[in-house]
Amino acid sequence: MKRVGILTSGGDCPGLNSAIRGVAKTLYRRIPGAEIVGIVGGYTGLIEKDCRVMRPEDFYDILTLGGTILHTTRQRFKTMRDEDEPGHNKLDKIVRNYKELGLDCLCTLGGNGTHKTADLLASEGLNIVALPKTIDNDVWGTDETFGFHTAVELGAGIVDRVYTTAESHSRVIVVEVMGNKFGWLALATGVASGAEAIVIPEIPYHIQKINEAIVNRVNAGRAYSVVIVAEGACSAEEAGIKRKERMIKRAEEGFLTVSAKLSKEIQADTGIETRTMTPGYYLRGGSPSAYDRILTTQFGAYAAELICHDVYGVTVAKKDGIITHNRLADVAGKPKPIPLRHPLIAAARDTGISFAD
Ligand code: F6P
Repeated sequence: MKRVGILTSGGDCPGLNSAIRGVAKTLYRRIPGAEIVGIVGGYTGLIEKDCRVMRPEDFYDILTLGGTILHTTRQRFKTMRDEDEPGHNKLDKIVRNYKELGLDCLCTLGGNGTHKTADLLASEGLNIVALPKTIDNDVWGTDETFGFHTAVELGAGIVDRVYTTAESHSRVIVVEVMGNKFGWLALATGVASGAEAIVIPEIPYHIQKINEAIVNRVNAGRAYSVVIVAEGACSAEEAGIKRKERMIKRAEEGFLTVSAKLSKEIQADTGIETRTMTPGYYLRGGSPSAYDRILTTQFGAYAAELICHDVYGVTVAKKDGIITHNRLADVAGKPKPIPLRHPLIAAARDTGISFAD
């Protein structure tokens, strides 16, 4: 018999419910009398002891359901040790509530912030098994995070449609996708849709290179283009400036987003009417792709197996097609930028996509 807490933390993504289902179904089958405690709203739920004992029926019919049945919040790692109320910080409360709830372990589904806190909790003696989710695909040590594949599918579907309207009007359309720190989503979406240029945080852009690609296309008879940009991308001039200062500088220039800046610069230099579109949260919502349903089922079942074998302080991963796990201590706080020699960047370049460098 085991009592397992489960929570989803940070930004949501497609596949959270199917991952929860994978964990729960496996636990009920593998451990007679297993009890699953659903913690509501991520770490906040554990701080406030907002939770309930789940029933097997709670996990029925959620394989394809978007969002998370457990809800989620962002609890900043940096504030975990800040005094929350006199004499108590969030970390103390989590540790205390974990013990009071009689949990044998805690399963945390989240991205980088979630993993950092999970590692902190493990160092405080809690038994943790984590699962890597995020449409950003930027959790270290796993080939892919769940949610990423669905977001790429949705993003590519949007860009397919954007192309037809760009062609009708002989316009450039700059599509901005999420990816605050790294450009995995922009790269995959751009390759999947055959964009003219992909602009990612890993490669600061030179506007004249983007414009060159657009003008060359016009000269070759195609008066329309689509540029995919990750929200965290910056120009070569901005590259040396700290993020906060960069945002202030951009706001002073009248730009709230990188796509707004890019489209103004493209239009000014090429004279081609340029528009922007931001799919934003659309890529985080709704049903997971078949691929993500399979991945989350594998991840969830594997996480439950780890719990059965009392393997803690780890996060589930996929490496070279094999489901495995990494130590939380090895993953927490480690960035996962796209290597500049990544084969997908090479293939994109080979097929004529500009990275504006
Ligand atoms: O899930 C991560 C992410 O997609 C980032 O790329 C983006 O900056 C962030 O979510 C925005 O999420 P929220 O507005 O929910 O904080």
